Amino acid sequence: MLHKLHRLSACVLASFILVHLLNHLFAIQGVDAHIGFMESFRSIYRQTLVEALLLGCVLFQVGSGLVFLRRRWGQRSGFFDRLQALSGAYLAFFFLNHVGAVLFGRLVLGLDTNVYYAAAGMHVNPFQYFFVPYYFLAVVAVFGHVACALHWLLREKLALPNRNLLGYGMLLAGAVAGLLIVLALAGQLYPLTIPAEYLETYQIF
Ligand code: HEM
Repeated sequence: MLHKLHRLSACVLASFILVHLLNHLFAIQGVDAHIGFMESFRSIYRQTLVEALLLGCVLFQVGSGLVFLRRRWGQRSGFFDRLQALSGAYLAFFFLNHVGAVLFGRLVLGLDTNVYYAAAGMHVNPFQYFFVPYYFLAVVAVFGHVACALHWLLREKLALPNRNLLGYGMLLAGAVAGLLIVLALAGQLYPLTIPAEYLETYQIF
């Protein structure tokens, strides 16, 4: 039962995350493209009911994921079985931090949590050493986690070499997408000037 709910909640989250990551890929084109896409996408996920469902799924996904991690602790074998636990653990850490930071930025700091909010940490020394791997690994973990689920779900339909190929291919796609997003946000694809109000949030450190 818990597995079924975990999968159902994963589908709700995946439909958001897919478009959310596509949104971040728009940063390759430029800040205006990213902001334009986010503003239209917000008209859907910022609706009270949709956002409540999304945040509820985040909490449920983290909680149920941690239960699975504990249940099979020390019993996993094989690359994709271990990667599922590792990517899930990272996503639990990332989800809580990321959503907490977004809500804090919006409700406490009163900022528009747009692309500048996401990128600011990469433009204040030494925070880039945290934010670059933090975001890169999040994208890889999403692709990796889905790859592991497919590796398992397709076990009766696809031969092992084909499932392995699909899994490694998805990991590679995640690494390329993560790298492109991080390069754009770090200002390595074109000059990116972060407005002062976003940089000021780091002054307390
Ligand atoms: C490079 C990676 C990422 C960046 C730069 C990023 C950035 C952002 C930003 C700026 C927001 C605020 C959106 C708004 O104000 O409308 C946001 C919201 C959110 N992100 Fe991400 N994100 C990334 C990856 C992810 C991943 C991998 C996940 C899931 C595993 C995720 C889950 C969420 C969720 C659940 C929200 C809250 C939506 C809401 O209710 O407002 N993000 N993200």
